Amino acid sequence: MTTERTLVLVKPDGVRRQLSGAILSRVEAKGYRIAELKMMNATREQLEKHYAEHVGKPFYEPLVEFMLEGPVVAAVFEGERVIEGFRSLAGSTEPTAAAPGTVRGDLGRDWGLKVQQNLVHGSDSVESAEREIGIWFG
Ligand code: RTP
Ligand code: MG
Repeated sequence: MTTERTLVLVKPDGVRRQLSGAILSRVEAKGYRIAELKMMNATREQLEKHYAEHVGKPFYEPLVEFMLEGPVVAAVFEGERVIEGFRSLAGSTEPTAAAPGTVRGDLGRDWGLKVQQNLVHGSDSVESAEREIGIWFG
């Protein structure tokens, strides 16, 4: 069994800009399957767990505040190598540098804020994915 699962979040900027459907559509069109999907307001407790690796970094508190600005769309996508595949679709962290053709490259930009608002989150390893799916879907 080699099928992977990954946690995808459309962050509050993506929901606010009405890009949730466009973003999920790109991932589905690539061929990955939606296994779970919901819109929700994150809690600070969830975000503290989700972003535990970034505690103490200068962008940590702005990041948590940004993720609390409005609802997120949380999804679990399934497929062979979906973790790597989604990260490739998302593009690099900084929207200014993200390649055209990626979600962040096509739909994102730097807004001059304390933290990069870059539309999506995707798990970065099998271990992170299982941990994060537990945080968002229980
Ligand atoms: P993500 O976890 O959201 O999929 O993004 P990522 O792996 O590409 O980036 P990561 O290093 O895990 O950082 C998490 C999120 O923090 C914000 N960030 N802003 N210098 C900055 O302004 C900065 N660095 C990180 C971004 O929202 C990033 O996605
Ligand atoms: Mg990350």
